[in-house]
Amino acid sequence: MGAIRSSLAEGLQGKYVAPGDKSVSHRALMLSALCIGRSRISGLLEGEDVLATAAAMRAMGADIRQLGPGEWEVHGVGVGGLGQPDAPVDMGNSGTAARLLMGLVATHPISVTFEGDASLCSRPMGRVITPLEASGAQFEAADGNRLPLTVRGAAAPLAMDYDVPVPSAQVKSAVLLAGLNTPGTTKVHEREATRDHSENMLRAMGADLVVTEADDGGRDIALTGPAELEAMDIVVPGDPSSAAFLVVAALITPGSQLTICNVGMNPLRTGLFEALRDMGAQIEETNVREEGGEPVADLIVRYNVLRGVTVPAGRAPSMIDEYPILAMAAAVAEGETLMEGLAELRVKESDRLSAIAEGLAANGVIVEEGEDWLKVTGGPVPGGGMVATHMDHRIAMSFLILGCVADSPVSIDEDAMIATSFPAFMDMMQQAGALFEGVEA
Ligand code: S3P
Repeated sequence: MGAIRSSLAEGLQGKYVAPGDKSVSHRALMLSALCIGRSRISGLLEGEDVLATAAAMRAMGADIRQLGPGEWEVHGVGVGGLGQPDAPVDMGNSGTAARLLMGLVATHPISVTFEGDASLCSRPMGRVITPLEASGAQFEAADGNRLPLTVRGAAAPLAMDYDVPVPSAQVKSAVLLAGLNTPGTTKVHEREATRDHSENMLRAMGADLVVTEADDGGRDIALTGPAELEAMDIVVPGDPSSAAFLVVAALITPGSQLTICNVGMNPLRTGLFEALRDMGAQIEETNVREEGGEPVADLIVRYNVLRGVTVPAGRAPSMIDEYPILAMAAAVAEGETLMEGLAELRVKESDRLSAIAEGLAANGVIVEEGEDWLKVTGGPVPGGGMVATHMDHRIAMSFLILGCVADSPVSIDEDAMIATSFPAFMDMMQQAGALFEGVEA
């Protein structure tokens, strides 16, 4: 753990399995903990973020145990059955864990204090506090509506009707999860469709949840509670947001061919692959199938020359976590790439817009940063810079991949956060042929 230098690699080769989807893994643990009976989860991501969710659900009474690698068993407490934890729950680096659990706690008669690391304590929670207060829950937060914060759940929760002002699956899910233990119909309107894993899993567990296309092109979701959720077997697909790093690594490193198996292809998650195809990428989808209610494919990706494009704002919700790695592809592509509609990047694990721009500039790439856009001029990458990752796993992985094609090595100040979402990343990339070595920071 520490600073890492990534040097020019020859082609990357091999066949790898994408790690379990982080979003689906969080939801699998939370929702199975609310079922009555025993659920089995396979393919669970055992990254630090997801383990924080498991610990919090255990602290609120669920029986959660690991049976083997990726194989987990959960005995739930039933909707309404969450118990008072003895101590504050530590959400580590995970915004998803914190925000979704705030939703669950808001409509249980318990009081829970949420803590997190420095990155999570700097992220805005007002976006979930505002809607959840309408349920009757009370919040006591640090300045600026940040963690640490305490939620006092409502004993007699009221159904919410919320028009989500920012495209956020976390806000949408927090409100829906609060609706599970609320009598009546909780309604959520989202102006742009965001990942729908919560809706899919809730429906599969038997919740009365209806999704309709809204006139403005968004979606209306109606959940009638209190819900009774049926325990089930959940198969977690591979994470397209993690596969993204291998896909771009293969596309930009001359002489590469990588096969990445079991990649979740939910259309609300695959905007990056569309953007890369617009740039001229050949990404072959094979063995297309459905697993656990989600489309899944194996991807075969070879090196090919990319050209700059404009990535429209409307695509942002379907690739919100993929801009750091797309920016690396843009740095190598011929011509300019303009990415628009990136305001949400400023409130991720770091301010990703400036973290990307600073990291690229430190490595000799021409880049322009606007309030909510980024323009990258591609070409040969000089490299030679040290990148500040700001405790952000995706910034760390992205710049290690840029190092595979830069003239001089690219360094990152810290690799520890990679374990939050993709613990096998370093080993997988090195096995594929990436040249990573520890350095004094
Ligand atoms: C997530 C939603 C997205 C995404 C995050 C995971 C989820 O956040 O960036 O990594 O699992 O719901 P927002 O909802 O804040 O956009």
